[in-house]
Amino acid sequence: MIVTAEISEVRLTRWAAPAATWGLVPTMGYLHEGHLSLVRRARAENDRLAASIYVNPTQFAPHEDLATYPRDLARDLALLEAEGVDLVFTPGDEVMYPAGFQTYVQVEQLTRPLEGASRPTHFRGVTTVVAKLFNVIQPTRAYFGQKDAQQSVVIRRMAADLNFNVEVIVCPIVREADGLAMSSRNARLTPEQRQQASVLHEALYTAMTALLDGEQDGDALRAIMGQTVQTRSLARLDYASAADPLTLQELSQVRGDVLFSLAVFFGNVRLIDNLLVTR
Ligand code: PAJ
Repeated sequence: MIVTAEISEVRLTRWAAPAATWGLVPTMGYLHEGHLSLVRRARAENDRLAASIYVNPTQFAPHEDLATYPRDLARDLALLEAEGVDLVFTPGDEVMYPAGFQTYVQVEQLTRPLEGASRPTHFRGVTTVVAKLFNVIQPTRAYFGQKDAQQSVVIRRMAADLNFNVEVIVCPIVREADGLAMSSRNARLTPEQRQQASVLHEALYTAMTALLDGEQDGDALRAIMGQTVQTRSLARLDYASAADPLTLQELSQVRGDVLFSLAVFFGNVRLIDNLLVTR
């Protein structure tokens, strides 16, 4: 497994196997089974496999958790090696954002609601870094998780709009036994917060149950999620949404497919989760 922080070495490795299909799994590290599910799928579908580990500062707002984002590069590399990854790109900030950097990629409407409403500069950072990773690594296929549903929709849009020759593949959410979606940020929860954090999954499941029982009113479904979250003393709701899965606009009536999603704070740890109901 080649591990490098240098763009030139990535390019050399990539083009040493020019006829091979290359998969790419972009990550911010502190890997868990959710990340590894992407790695395994990508490993099975491509001749060669690259992963990136980079905690991208441009997708964090100044008040967010960039400084406390968990990191463990040695452990991450051991996990990736065990999965048969060929190339790991671990750039530093000076490689990704050298002095004079001033070009950003911005997807417009799709980044305004949901995560974009709470984190207005977030997706500009995500699409900029993913566009750079696509250009540096030039993968055949890139793998993302449904865990970050809006991110996946936004990246698909970007890849289409900018004519990237990359197939964007979205993989299912991997959960803990109690339903909590795996996330690097779960490591920052206290034991009591961790116990209550299964409420995100519970709220989504309750909304789905209500929908299947005939409740079609968007506001009522959003309220059901909010009320469920409120049953836990340490949880503070950021948003609860019942949106069109393609446009991400809130639905007043749910007649077809719906993306239920929510963001909840436990202290200063912000967790997200979602459930796509297709009919
Ligand atoms: P990160 O949060 O490290 O996640 C990397 C990838 O793993 C994302 O595509 C995410 O959706 C996926 N993932 C995380 N938890 C998952 C779970 N429980 N089940 C399935 N997939 C899961 O998302 C990012 O990093 C960054 O924004 C990035 C795309 C790397 C750009 O900086």
